[in-house]
Amino acid sequence: MPVAQKTYTVAIAGLGKRGMHHAEAVAKNPRLKLAGVCDIDAARMEAAAQKFGVERTHADAAQLLQAVKPDLFIFCTLPQIRLPMIRAGVEAGVKMIAYEKPIALSMNEALEMYSLVRAAGVKTVVSHQHRYGEHYRKVKEIIASGAIGRVHTVYGHSIGWMMHMLTHLIEYAGWYNGGADPVWVVGQAFGKEKFADVHVSPDYIAALVQYANGVRGIFECGAGAPDVPEVDSMWHKCRIGAQGTEGFAEVLTGKEGKGGGWRAVTRDGIRSGPGYMDYAHDMPPYIQDIVEWLDDDSKVHPCDGETALKGFQVMMGAMRSVVQRGKITLPLGEGEPELEALQKALP
Ligand SMILES: NC(=O)c1ccc[n+]([C@@H]2O[C@H](COP(=O)([O-])OP(=O)(O)OC[C@H]3O[C@@H](n4cnc5c(N)ncnc54)[C@H](O)[C@@H]3O)[C@@H](O)[C@H]2O)c1
Repeated sequence: MPVAQKTYTVAIAGLGKRGMHHAEAVAKNPRLKLAGVCDIDAARMEAAAQKFGVERTHADAAQLLQAVKPDLFIFCTLPQIRLPMIRAGVEAGVKMIAYEKPIALSMNEALEMYSLVRAAGVKTVVSHQHRYGEHYRKVKEIIASGAIGRVHTVYGHSIGWMMHMLTHLIEYAGWYNGGADPVWVVGQAFGKEKFADVHVSPDYIAALVQYANGVRGIFECGAGAPDVPEVDSMWHKCRIGAQGTEGFAEVLTGKEGKGGGWRAVTRDGIRSGPGYMDYAHDMPPYIQDIVEWLDDDSKVHPCDGETALKGFQVMMGAMRSVVQRGKITLPLGEGEPELEALQKALP
């Protein structure tokens, strides 16, 4: 007789756009039970509780977690709320915390978050879920097959600004580079308008990265980054790829009906195909990989928080480089909070 598989309980805090995407995918996964929801906006919380038939609700995530004691805590709040949510999850004894990018607002905050989860043995997953797109995967497959020869450069750019987009670009370029560690970064930035946004950012930032395997990374984010004219949707104008000794392969993020896809020049010729970013497509496998990592420690999630931390350090390192003028060696330790320091340093 087959052994019954465990059902994992889930609590979600932050029921805006991304929280609801997560809730939909959790509700559809037969191995997960949505046991509690939280939002400071009572109407949103009640609507989600009704929609998904959830009994436990609370405006305070820590109190909800103490009442529900879920296996998995998901939070999808804006970037200003990270450390208190991580602490609440650890104190409630959850097995895993899955949350939204960017990891934190500063390296100091990220270090504190990671020291809490590492000490408690809590697994973390960060939502860089674009990688589930077929076009993203096609580019990975071409690069990994060796069809572009030896990879010497990976790159990513987006006209969406830093705290929205940069860790996405770094995560997927790092994947195309086989997960090699970034070892140093130099950065440059300009513009202070987006320091007033909830995704606090310079208007533009560039980062040049050296990886341990000798590969160079080139990233640009914000107003002034190259356009992707093939895509007719501002947030989806992202181009991420790799160049090798015998060609290149790259993804254009895209949106349904607005362009996007993949293209490659390889030793076998010129190839291309369609694709676009689609939450409904990308979220179910992202959530299923969470279940599989909960089941089996060896099935580490592709969006593992430790990988995301490496990418986050590239972003924080680029800001430190603008402020300190020069090469920043990774991994980073504590330092002056990067966003505040950058805002002061920019003219
Ligand atoms: N991975 C992706 O593709 C992707 C796409 C868009 C946004 N994001 C990220 O997702 C995060 C959330 O973005 P969003 O667009 O869903 O935001 P949103 O504003 O739609 O939702 C945030 C929700 O959090 C709630 N909230 C605020 N403080 C809270 C608290 N203390 N406790 C509980 N709930 C609280 C708000 O009331 C709101 O309902 C951001 O970090 C953003 O960068 C990721």
